[in-house]
Amino acid sequence: MRHTIHVLALAMLLPLAAQAAAPAAPAASPTAAPAPGKIAFDRWCAECHAAGVGHPGAQQLERLRGAKLALLEARNDLAPEFIRYVVRHGQNAMPPYRPSEISDTQLDQIAQYLVRNQPAPGKRRR
Ligand code: HEC
Repeated sequence: MRHTIHVLALAMLLPLAAQAAAPAAPAASPTAAPAPGKIAFDRWCAECHAAGVGHPGAQQLERLRGAKLALLEARNDLAPEFIRYVVRHGQNAMPPYRPSEISDTQLDQIAQYLVRNQPAPGKRRR
């Protein structure tokens, strides 16, 4: 009889133990892995387009377009086609990048990352 009670108690506890051991569902939190576009941006673009002194892209865009449009990562007015064009062809002091350096896939990911704050297509301001 005592044995039966122990087995029953164990059977009741097991699901709890299984639940506790299950890995937490991945949530969109600051600790989640960064988007592939963010990783590629940091690798290829941040040296010139990160905030602060010593980043010629950010500084030049501030001069040309004003403080609000200085940081690519904070903008929501760039079309993905324009981003791809500038990266492939360069723009003034910004050099062009070949597909052997930044692949089409990586460039798409970067463009996707940079337009992440924009309204859905169709509602986008051109
Ligand atoms: C060697 C420095 C450098 C690197 C690296 C660089 N840029 Fe630039 N970028 C610049 C400069 C400088 C400008 C301003 C050009 C001008 O005078 O019009 C610029 C301008 C731009 C613009 C035009 C914005 C506008 O309002 O006209 C885009 C888009 C852009 N860069 C995207 C990128 C992306 C995406 C990457 C990474 C793949 C990148 N850049 C890497 C220096 C750089």
